[in-house]
Order: sequence, then structure tokens, then C-alpha cells
Amino acid sequence: MHDTPVPPPDADPATDAGGPPRRPVRSFVLRGGRMGTGQQRALAELGPRYVLPYQATPLALPQVFGRAGPCILEIGFGMGDATAQVATAMPDHDFIGVEVHEAGVGALLKRIGEGGLTNLRILRHDAVEVLRDMVPPDTLTGVHLWFPDPWHKKRHHKRRIVQPAFVELVASRLAPGGYLHCATDWQPYAEQMLEVLAASPALRNTASGYAPKPAWRPQTKFETRGLKLGHGVWDLLFTRPPADAT
Ligand SMILES: C[S@@+](CC[C@H](N)C(=O)[O-])C[C@H]1O[C@@H](n2cnc3c(N)ncnc32)[C@H](O)[C@@H]1O
Repeated sequence: MHDTPVPPPDADPATDAGGPPRRPVRSFVLRGGRMGTGQQRALAELGPRYVLPYQATPLALPQVFGRAGPCILEIGFGMGDATAQVATAMPDHDFIGVEVHEAGVGALLKRIGEGGLTNLRILRHDAVEVLRDMVPPDTLTGVHLWFPDPWHKKRHHKRRIVQPAFVELVASRLAPGGYLHCATDWQPYAEQMLEVLAASPALRNTASGYAPKPAWRPQTKFETRGLKLGHGVWDLLFTRPPADAT
């Protein structure tokens, strides 16, 4: 997650009618990468308790957390540093972190163990399918999408997760009044995010364009890397209007 994702061998999906079944275009490519011993131990010891298996049916969130509190879902938490910081700072909220990279899952589990966090669960699966299949409509207080893979090359832009259909899926899973918070250090992607989010009939911008960085958003690992490279950072904060708003 901190290196540029390795592009697939080329030709993404099969395109010809009558050819092999079309693979969905995913926003990630699974990379190997060695896990540290601490991460491996955390995976073995804490995984069964804190990693939720993917299922094709909606989750009962109060059962998962043992309470009916506000729930925030984070897409692509990387190594989970910012995730653990936010979950620690907001003990009244429950968090679901979604990440496909195993070493990141191990790293966040290690932090969960060290911090004794009880308000955080992990899903190691494509976040698009998690939102679609496991998150009931109208439930989430917030969705965090911090520094999604920028997919710099034009031929990979279709892999960028922020697309109209994705935004509508997120909006449908937000509770009325819930928010979607995106951040990126790649200006062309920031511009795409702003265009796609502003065009969503389901969401409203909280700012007149890009939003100020909320004080509660920690600096993420990928952001730190971008800042060292001299990149700027763009935050976007959109809400689903409350039910009584016209
Ligand atoms: C550029 S990294 C940023 C990580 C972290 N948010 C940060 O700022 O340090 C993006 C991460 O999103 C993950 N990711 C991309 N698409 C995903 C998806 N559809 N579901 C779950 N994770 C995804 C990648 O595996 C990668 O770790």
C-alpha cells in the first residue's frame, strides 16, 4: 500500500462476447509482502476475534459490537495507524476497517491488541462487496476513504474506486446525516473525486469545494509519504442530507 500498486499483467477483463467471463475491475491488486512476526502472531491470536469473515448477507451491527452505537467504515486502511488512532480517540463509535492486504490486517490487529481496542473490527475483503453485501442500507454514520490508490496511468483510471456507481453505493449505506470523507495527495484524483461527488444526487458538499482537513483526521502513512515527495493534500467531506431536509 505504500508502494505503487503493481498493475495486472495487462488486459484486465475479458472483453469479447463469447470469451471467458468478464472479471470485475477492482481498485486493488493483491501484492505479496512478508509479514513481521508480531503481525503473524496478532493474526493468529486476535484474528479469530476481530476479523469478521466476508458473508453475502447483511451484518447485524449491534450483535457484532454488543451495542447499537454509531458505526464508521474505513476503506483501505493500509497498515491501520490512522484507523487505530481514530478508534482510540472516539470510544463511543464503532469502526469497521476494510483492507485486502494481509500484512496491513496483521499490523492493525497488533495495534488492537496493544491498545485494548474493543470498538474496531476488520474485514479482509473488497470493500465494494462488503458495502454491497454486508452493510445494510441507511446505517453508517461515516465512511472514511483516505488516500485510495491513485492509479496514475490513464489506462488504469478505471481502477480508481471513486466512480459514480461506487459513490451511490456508499450514499445508500450512509444513515441520513451520515458523511463520506475522502482525502488524496494526487491532484488529478482530487479533481475527479470532486467532480464525481458533486454530481451525486444523494450527497451534499459541506464546503464550497475542497474541505479543510478536519482536526480529528490523523496524518496517514501514505499521506506522510506524499508530503515527503512534495505533494499537496486535498480533503473532501460530503454528507447525505438528514431525512427531513428538502
Ligand atoms: C494507497 S493505500 C493507503 C492506505 C492508508 N489509507 C494510508 O493512507 O496510509 C490504499 C489501500 O487501499 C487498499 N484497497 C484498495 N482498494 C480496496 C478495496 N476495494 N477494498 C479494500 N481495500 C482496498 C489497498 O490494499 C491499499 O492498502
